[in-house]
Amino acid sequence: MMANAKHAMKWIGAKEPTTLGLDTSLAQVALSLSKREKDDYATRTDRSARSPRPSKLSTMVSDSKPAVWWNVKYKNRWLSDGSIVSGNPVHTNFLWNEIGRGTDLRKLETWMKDSNHQIEALTAAVFATKPPRYEKFFGVEAIDIEKARRGQKHFVQSCQKCHGTYEKGWDQAEANKLSTAKLLQNFKVTYHKKTPVIDVGTDPGRYLGMKEFSDDLNRLQISKNLNAVVEPQKGYVPPPLEGIWSRWPYFHNNSVPNLCALLTVASARPKTYVAGKAIDKKRDFDQECVGYPIGDKAPEEWKSNKAYFYDTQREGLSNSGHDEKILVREGKEIYSQTQKSELIEFLKTL
Ligand code: HEC
Repeated sequence: MMANAKHAMKWIGAKEPTTLGLDTSLAQVALSLSKREKDDYATRTDRSARSPRPSKLSTMVSDSKPAVWWNVKYKNRWLSDGSIVSGNPVHTNFLWNEIGRGTDLRKLETWMKDSNHQIEALTAAVFATKPPRYEKFFGVEAIDIEKARRGQKHFVQSCQKCHGTYEKGWDQAEANKLSTAKLLQNFKVTYHKKTPVIDVGTDPGRYLGMKEFSDDLNRLQISKNLNAVVEPQKGYVPPPLEGIWSRWPYFHNNSVPNLCALLTVASARPKTYVAGKAIDKKRDFDQECVGYPIGDKAPEEWKSNKAYFYDTQREGLSNSGHDEKILVREGKEIYSQTQKSELIEFLKTL
């Protein structure tokens, strides 16, 4: 394996993330593909390894936060930009990972045919993945149910048309017979039949990156056999929000440190923040804002760690968007501080 991996390295093009916490797999697939011949199986030759085709992704930033497995079952377009529009996402995951590992695609194709039952089992496991529950982590007393129910009203009004509907335990006819933990559960989640992609003005880097190599992927024989089609989109998928409390920092590019910042108009969101490891749940997570503690609340030792410094002024890292008609209407904020805090309480229960 070691010898194989070493040999395959010649056809790997990789890139460091702009800041820690972001993933550069999109660029890795593109840059690795550009080190192969342009035929149906992207054949690996010494010549192609030595002189890769130019790719804008060597400089362009399309870094992103990996999407979660537990949302896959709700979707029929995958990735944060919804650019994979058909096929089994687990197959595509294999294909892209292996391109990024410099694998011979004819060998991969044979392996995938021979390993169908394992891949099916994996697909079933992906579809069965469940999000972590806030109350399991912090205790049921960490959620104020009445406040969350007030927040649900705002959510229904402003958010569900994009993010889906969440029928709660407390919405059930016999709710008075349920335990607190059951009241907090999602009894039924309804998401769009066709996964939407919407441009709410967030950073375009990731979806623009996709345009740079979608043709290279679509022309591969193995993509055709798997029926994996990439169609670049403008905008991003409004993700289903189950387990959203555990998905900080927010947006596809990690540009927003917590939910308080997400519910702040873009121009007033923090321009920089420092991330840190989740070790101590009291210190490293802000329960009021749900996400990273920032400013004075951030642990002192985080502040000196440059690798985790997030600067929204940098290319691809903008924290713009998701405010017009969501938080602001005709120049006026829709929600008061109290209402936003109710909304956050509801989001904790998803
Ligand atoms: C017009 C559609 C639309 C509406 C309405 C909307 N959103 Fe979103 N939301 C999006 C899109 C699209 C994204 C993905 C943006 C990105 O990642 O760049 C998003 C992202 C998010 C995220 C971050 C998800 C993550 O994994 O980081 C949260 C949280 C969120 N929205 C909450 C809300 C709340 C709360 C409301 C209501 C106040 C709301 N949204 C209203 C479209 C919408």
